[in-house]
Amino acid sequence: MNFDFDTPPDRRGTDSQKWQKYAGRDVLPLWVADMDFRSPPALVAALQARVEHGVFGYARPVQSTVDAFVGACAQRYGWTVDPAWLVWLPGLVVGLNVVTQACTAAGDEVLTLAPVYPPFLTTPRHSGRVSTQVAWTLNAGHWEIDWEALESAVTPRTKIFLLCNPHNPLARVWRRDELERLVEFCLRHGLVLCSDEIHCDLILDPALPHIPTATLSPEIAARTITLMAPSKTYNVPGLGTSLAIIPDAAMRAKFVRATAGIVAEVTGLGYTACEAAYRDCEPWRQELLATLRGNRDFLADFVARELPGVKLEAPIEATYLAWLNVEALGLADPVAHFEQHEVGLSDGAFFGEPRGRHVRLNFGCPRATLGEALARMKRALKK
Ligand SMILES: Cc1ncc(COP(=O)(O)O)c(C=O)c1O
Repeated sequence: MNFDFDTPPDRRGTDSQKWQKYAGRDVLPLWVADMDFRSPPALVAALQARVEHGVFGYARPVQSTVDAFVGACAQRYGWTVDPAWLVWLPGLVVGLNVVTQACTAAGDEVLTLAPVYPPFLTTPRHSGRVSTQVAWTLNAGHWEIDWEALESAVTPRTKIFLLCNPHNPLARVWRRDELERLVEFCLRHGLVLCSDEIHCDLILDPALPHIPTATLSPEIAARTITLMAPSKTYNVPGLGTSLAIIPDAAMRAKFVRATAGIVAEVTGLGYTACEAAYRDCEPWRQELLATLRGNRDFLADFVARELPGVKLEAPIEATYLAWLNVEALGLADPVAHFEQHEVGLSDGAFFGEPRGRHVRLNFGCPRATLGEALARMKRALKK
């Protein structure tokens, strides 16, 4: 290993949301999706050089930033992205809200598969739209789509399908045949497909390629808004730099109109980090993936052997997020229970299911932190 994924940065007393939640308490926070790793040295060095310049005016991406992103899409996914398709955004959740406002009217429905990243469920409500959800089904250790339920959920008011590719919290990579069927479904019903691919550079199973949804056919590219960002992979979500990739000019114009006056500019520091991430940090990313694979296997083994009543129902194929079934523990509020035993997890209820069934655990941290958190969870089960 050339990079340090073992030394936990001390984030207590800093601006970290993740750690502030439990300020003054000895709780290990494994909830919100940022990692307890320093960002890649090449990215930090690029930021240091940018800070040294000392001027922080309104920013626009320079050509080398665009080249770095477009180059990564070509190299990693064989996706030729025309720079004209890019709309820079200060966050992915901003993108979800803009897509909703640009492509629907009040009262229209936004369809998704739940459980899912909470803003998929709450975004439609922000603008008087309706969230409709179809439940994932578990079949022989794999989360699957209930295609019949999905068909039945479509009404004349359904306008958007929100896809999480790869999926948070199920840590699942979409297979080509599933994406093809989903694309056919969206085209047949005239839906806009919004594909949130923020976790696409965090695939842990090397046999499973990330397939950008928009690459499946020119027809679906013309109806797809893809959202990507360096934030999860390179641990820079606090720098607020994301992209919408919108091949269709009319849809792009609608999207840009919906941002007018309310969406803030991306900062120069954000562009600098983004460029360095996509161009200079591939060796770091490969070691990160190896570290996360190790953590995932350690976690899966620990859960199976040491945490009776807690279950990982399906393999973790991507992300640093584990969706743990805790139903058998019979706890009304499992997050509160584990907090009492000094581990902070995310409540499955926010992802669109009844409280008490699942918690989400973020294993993007040094092994020692994960080991200590799991030991605390083991003790919590004995109480
Ligand atoms: C699927 C997904 N989309 C978006 C986000 C957040 O994006 P941002 O912080 O850029 O708004 C997350 C964060 O965990 C996520 O998991």
